[in-house]
Amino acid sequence: MSRIAYVNGRYVPHRDAVVHVEDRGYQFADGVYEVSAVRDGVVIDMEPHLDRLERSLRELSISPPMSRAALAVVIREVVRRNRVRDGLFYLQITRGVARRDHAFPAAARPSVVVTARSVDPARAEAMARQGVGVITVPDIRWERCDIKSVSLLPNVLAKQQARAAGAYEAWLVDEAGRVTEGSSTNAWIVDRDGALVTRSIDNAILSGITRAAVMELARLQQIRVVERSFTLDEAKSAREAFITSTTSYVLPVVSVDGVKIGNGQPGEVARRLRELYAGYMAGQQDRRQAGR
Ligand SMILES: Cc1ncc(COP(=O)(O)O)c(C=O)c1O
Repeated sequence: MSRIAYVNGRYVPHRDAVVHVEDRGYQFADGVYEVSAVRDGVVIDMEPHLDRLERSLRELSISPPMSRAALAVVIREVVRRNRVRDGLFYLQITRGVARRDHAFPAAARPSVVVTARSVDPARAEAMARQGVGVITVPDIRWERCDIKSVSLLPNVLAKQQARAAGAYEAWLVDEAGRVTEGSSTNAWIVDRDGALVTRSIDNAILSGITRAAVMELARLQQIRVVERSFTLDEAKSAREAFITSTTSYVLPVVSVDGVKIGNGQPGEVARRLRELYAGYMAGQQDRRQAGR
């Protein structure tokens, strides 16, 4: 089956999906994006993702290219046309095509691209059973990491460093030795008292949709959640560590810079949270099917 992409009002074969060379996304990384999981054909957490998208657009003064309801229709249509049962959709909105000039163009229509692809849930489960290693790199990003901008070069370089070192993710560490987040994930530890610790939301990190869901699930289980920064040293001596994201759900971290976390095996708390998150996603499927 050939893949289909949505590009500026048209559903086109993926291989023909193109944007103009003077698109400001290409020229300046002047755009934002979203990615969300699809489970059993249902987009997980559509509303919070659209909320965050609207916020990112607002922060960059990019006008929404269409209504929220229309965007949700396009997303579901791309998922449907690609027959994605378990996978992801990606959405990019840029300031549009205009003659190159750093300042905003007087009139440009935002460009919109939506794609979707399947992922093999079995592979992700195998990785979660084993746990993953992370390395750390200095956080060299700008001061608006709260905006989900397509400008991801430091994140790309960090992830590549992780891959080159045989690790799954790179944690970014600020000048004070505190972990901000992963290159494409939020970072968590479980402290000696069994409390979950993750950095509070500010301009230094992305407000993860998975982070918010996991936090709520933990609280419902009476697991204490503390939103504060943690240092790299704390992480290395933590009882457990894990990462959260749309693409990884809850993924146990078993080593940081080669130092074993706990006994070097996925921790109980992370395992439990992953199960709870799977239940949370399944609940959305049930609700949507019931509402059909
Ligand atoms: C830098 C960064 N932090 C955190 C996350 C996790 O966010 P979410 O749970 O919404 O996927 C992502 C996901 O793309 C990310 O790129």
